Amino acid sequence: MLFNAGRLTRVLLVLLLPATLVLATAVRRASVCNGYSELCDRSFGNVTFVGAHDSYAVSSINPAANQDVNVTEQLENGVRMLQMQTHNESGTIQLCHTSCLLLNGGTLQTYLESVKSWMDDNTNDVVSLLIVNSYDNFSPAQYDTVFKAVGLDTLAYAPSSASLSYTEWPTLGDLIDNGTRLVVFLTTEADYTSVPYLIDEFSNIWETAYDVTTTDFDCSVNRTSGNYAEQMYLINHFLDEDLLGVLVPDKSDASKTNAVSGTGSLGAQVTECAAEYSRNPNFMLVDFYEYGDGSVFEVAATANGVTYTPSNIASPVSSGASGTSTASSSSSASALGFQVTAAHLSAVAAVAGGLLLGVLNVV
Ligand SMILES: *[C@@H]1O[C@H](CO)[C@@H](O)[C@H](O)[C@H]1NC(C)=O
Ligand SMILES: *[C@@H]1O[C@H](CO)[C@@H](O)[C@H](O)[C@H]1NC(C)=O
Ligand SMILES: *[C@@H]1O[C@H](CO)[C@@H](O)[C@H](O)[C@H]1NC(C)=O
Ligand SMILES: *[C@@H]1O[C@H](CO)[C@@H](O)[C@H](O)[C@H]1NC(C)=O
Ligand SMILES: *[C@@H]1O[C@H](CO)[C@@H](O)[C@H](O)[C@H]1NC(C)=O
Repeated sequence: MLFNAGRLTRVLLVLLLPATLVLATAVRRASVCNGYSELCDRSFGNVTFVGAHDSYAVSSINPAANQDVNVTEQLENGVRMLQMQTHNESGTIQLCHTSCLLLNGGTLQTYLESVKSWMDDNTNDVVSLLIVNSYDNFSPAQYDTVFKAVGLDTLAYAPSSASLSYTEWPTLGDLIDNGTRLVVFLTTEADYTSVPYLIDEFSNIWETAYDVTTTDFDCSVNRTSGNYAEQMYLINHFLDEDLLGVLVPDKSDASKTNAVSGTGSLGAQVTECAAEYSRNPNFMLVDFYEYGDGSVFEVAATANGVTYTPSNIASPVSSGASGTSTASSSSSASALGFQVTAAHLSAVAAVAGGLLLGVLNVV
């Protein structure tokens, strides 16, 4: 056999490669996770995240809207759980609010492309998706097709089993180091054996009540399909009001609802739930997150025991103002009520139309 230096080098490389990889994996280490070094060694199940309720339902004139700014800006501002509803529009997975006639937020694929693009630009952040699949119950395979088309399937974390207790989740640092920074929950139809990264929500997370119309947000276990004492939990902290018999997001109170303290505030509910369960909520779903001028992020930072640093976030958009930005301070924002404009009236007519179609509420 002829001595072949090139071949020997290749053989040596093949022999050394696994050790090199192990070393590289062990050494590679995110030093900042979701904006804080303190969070890298914390289990995903021990972190409090701000979530955007109906994150795709963006409009300044449609009363069925829950957010003022698009998903890219939500992520840019610090939202780390994106909740959405899926609806079947001629076989396409569409993001609509209660009905696509009422509010159509575009296709899941277009939405996920925005998420992917932001995550590609922000490689030290863990983001969760909460997909409300109960309207049309798409199969995991149908979601998988869309996630693959966007390239998010490979960024999604597949847990070691179909349900994990809140202590069993990997750390944010591990999720980031492994390149599995997207955690996807599905309310119905999840099937661990077919698509393991589409995680069943209610065997991993319990929720407080939604459809709340008084400032009395309680912390009772409202929906779960497991042992709540071992699950992460989500608080639905958004207030609705009755508009012509239909429940719609109460934007005029959003600053108070999102506030750090006070009656009906996010901070007050977190304090109450933490006292009741001896741990903070993992996810806090809010409407119009920018109302309160960053208060929702302050509540999360306090819950996480890290220092809150105010940053420039989106300015609150008043209802019916056709997208014109208004006050940026929480005090003046809270003074904004509903302004009735022609656009608003036609949107109300759309809600009334929805009611005639048998749609009962839009939350
Ligand atoms: C999202 O909003 C930002 C800020 O208003 C804007 O620059 C961006 O173009 C929007 N993205 C999409 C996909 O509409
Ligand atoms: C979606 O709607 C199409 C018809 O438009 C139908 O063929 C298909 O079965 C529906 N899929 C689901 C999951 O409901
Ligand atoms: C990261 O990847 C390694 C190697 O594949 C695996 O053993 C480990 O469980 C993964 N960690 C997480 C948090 O997924
Ligand atoms: C969940 O909350 C809704 C709305 O408050 C209430 O009607 C329902 O009875 C609650 N369910 C449970 C199981 O607590
Ligand atoms: C994380 O753990 C600390 C210490 O036990 C606890 O105070 C905090 O409430 C936990 N947070 C969550 C979201 O579980």
